[in-house]
Amino acid sequence: MKYVLRSNGLTKKYGDKMIVEDVNLEVEQGDIYGFLGQNGAGKTTVFRMLLGLIKPLRGTVEWFGENPSTASFNRIGSMIETPGFYPNLTVWDNLDIHRRMCGVTDSFVIEEHLKLVGMEGMGKQKVKKLSLGTKQRLAIARTLLHRPDCLILDEPVNGLDPIGIRETRELLLELRNKRSMTIMISSHILGEIGQMVNRIGIIHGGKMIEQLDYAELQRRNRTYVEIRVDNDGKATWILEQQLHIKDYTVWEKGRIRVYERLEDTGMLNKTLLDGGVIVSEMSLCSETLEDHFVKLTGGVQK
Ligand SMILES: Nc1ncnc2c1ncn2[C@@H]1O[C@H](COP(=O)(O)OP(=O)(O)OP(=O)(O)O)[C@@H](O)[C@H]1O
Ligand SMILES: [Mg+2]
Repeated sequence: MKYVLRSNGLTKKYGDKMIVEDVNLEVEQGDIYGFLGQNGAGKTTVFRMLLGLIKPLRGTVEWFGENPSTASFNRIGSMIETPGFYPNLTVWDNLDIHRRMCGVTDSFVIEEHLKLVGMEGMGKQKVKKLSLGTKQRLAIARTLLHRPDCLILDEPVNGLDPIGIRETRELLLELRNKRSMTIMISSHILGEIGQMVNRIGIIHGGKMIEQLDYAELQRRNRTYVEIRVDNDGKATWILEQQLHIKDYTVWEKGRIRVYERLEDTGMLNKTLLDGGVIVSEMSLCSETLEDHFVKLTGGVQK
C-alpha cells in the first residue's frame, strides 16, 4: 500500500460560504506531510473531514487504501486545535483516562510515552501547572498511547519556542524512523515545519494550490539577479536575443529576475544600457521557501 491517506474532491460549506473546495490530498507511507496555510485557510476543517468528525458536502476520503471504518480510525492518532485536558488532574491521570477510553489494557504505556516525549518522571504534576510547550508534548504523548500507524497533528508547534520546535521535530522524525509512522502536521508558518517535512500541501482560501515534494521546493530555492528597468519588453528582448538568456521571469512590471549567468552581472548591465534600457537597480538575491509560500498565498506570514 503506497498511500496511507487520500482525499478526492473534499468540499465543505458553512451556510452559503464555501470553506473548503475540491481538496485532493495524497499522503504516502512514511511521509511527514506539512499542511500549510494562513489562518482561516481551511486546515482544521480539512483535518476534521479526514477524521470523520464533520461530514463533507461532497468528496471522499480513503484511509489505508479503503473507505474509512472503525478499524482504520483505530490506526490513527490525532490532535485537533488546542488539546483539552482536565487541568486539576495529574499528567498521569489524564493519560490514564485516555488509555482506558482507547481500550489499551497495559498502563505501562503511560510511562513509556512520557519518556518518549521528554516528560519522564512528570506524571505526578498537575496539568494546570504545565507550560504551553510541555502541554503540547503531553498532547502528542496522548495521541500515541494506542500505537497508531498515522498521526494527524493540527498546529503541534504553534506557540512553541525554537527549542520546543526542534524537540518536536526530533520526536516526529524518531516516530517516523523507529515506528514507521506516517505523520501529517499543519502550520501557518513554513519556517516552523520546513525542516521536518518531506512533502508539502499548500491550502489557500479553502483550495489546495500546490502539493509537492520538499526536495522540489528546495530546488526552487534559487539565487538570481534582480534588475529594475524602464522597459521590460526591450530588456527581455536583449536578454534573449543578445545574451541568449532563457531562464528569467518578469516578476512584476519593470522587475526582472535572471537565474543564469550570475557571474556576469557587469556584462548584463552594459548590454542592457547599450541597448537603450535604463537600469535603475541590479542586485543579487535568493528566493527562500518562505518567499515561495508568500508568493503563492499572496500575504506576509507572521
Ligand atoms: N463551524 C463553523 N461554522 C462556520 N464557519 C466556520 C466553522 N468552522 C470554521 N469556519 C470558517 O472556515 C474557515 C476556515 O477555518 P479553519 O479553522 O479550517 O482554518 P485554519 O486554516 O485551521 O485556520 P487557523 O490557522 O486559524 O487554525 C474560517 O473562515 C472559519 O471562520
Ligand atoms: Mg486551524
